[in-house]
Amino acid sequence: MENKTLEKQIRPSVFELTPYVPAKPVEEMREELGLSRIVKLDANENALGTSPLALQAMESQMGSLNRYPDGYFQGLRRALAKHWHVDEEQVIAGNGSDEVLSLIAQTFLGEGDEMIVVDPTFSSYEFYATIMGARVIHLSLEPDTYGLSVDGLLGAVTDRCKIVCVCTPNNPTGLLIDAASMERLVRELPKDVLLVVDEAYFEYVTDERAVSAAEYLDEDRLLLVSRTFSKIYGLAALRVGYALTSKAVAGFMGRVRSPFNINSLAQAAAAAAIGDEAHREASRAMNEEGKRFLYGKLKELGVPYLPTQANLFSRRPETPPGCGKCFLKRAWSSVPARPTGRTG
Ligand SMILES: Cc1ncc(COP(=O)(O)O)c(C=O)c1O
Repeated sequence: MENKTLEKQIRPSVFELTPYVPAKPVEEMREELGLSRIVKLDANENALGTSPLALQAMESQMGSLNRYPDGYFQGLRRALAKHWHVDEEQVIAGNGSDEVLSLIAQTFLGEGDEMIVVDPTFSSYEFYATIMGARVIHLSLEPDTYGLSVDGLLGAVTDRCKIVCVCTPNNPTGLLIDAASMERLVRELPKDVLLVVDEAYFEYVTDERAVSAAEYLDEDRLLLVSRTFSKIYGLAALRVGYALTSKAVAGFMGRVRSPFNINSLAQAAAAAAIGDEAHREASRAMNEEGKRFLYGKLKELGVPYLPTQANLFSRRPETPPGCGKCFLKRAWSSVPARPTGRTG
């Protein structure tokens, strides 16, 4: 069949996409580069390893791999609801938080709808919105503080805007949305615009002033907080993420979700990991130690950096006088986008 004939059959939004090119596996790099030791930092994983309680829980599933997983992931849902003091129906899990982001886009977005993101940030928000044919409005972080301009964001919301997507701590800056800005977003964005707050790295946060959007789940507005087991819990290979939201939003996303999206090993591991406070603490402490080491070395080298609240961090761009936004764009141009590989 001619390519032109095939192209007529493909949805227009697919032409906007470039396939994701993942980072090479360590084994492949080792062979390719002839290196004996590789320290892998490119996916912001937990170098301490997996929660031991999660490993134990997986063992318990080994005898029943011939069975389909629990399609409602009830054990995991129960564990998450208990951990967060929310109703079980407010929890929805995905095959990685990437799938959660995909479910959000599939549930809310269509042709002509708009979603706002604030660059630089994680690339999946745009990816899934684009698949659905929605328009992604790109705002920029403040050129001087790399913080979020709430006024800028509020001003960019049109009647067509269905989602505002923010990330705290942000990938790639590692910076938090400060408490006052979070409160303003929750209270001042139109209630029917879904505020998505991606908190993939929040368990690494040590700043006592930090506020999770989960504190606002009772507010009368559309709000969804996304978390993952891929980072501090050391379960990236198993692919589990989840969202905390209202029962109604979780219900609609549940209609879109494929029946067995979380496998049995992942369900058991994640349900155990959420209660593994010791592993979470040890991972956070190791990250803090790593940060201190790196900050010290970077200072010695005279390399400016942003003080991160996550397990990733960025070089601090040096602001040349009198050049605001254009500089910000240039400074972040080193942040890779699809298809050369996203950060994270
Ligand atoms: C900010 C952010 N959100 C979400 C994800 C997706 O993580 P996962 O799909 O492994 O849960 C990542 C991955 O790096 C990330 O950096």
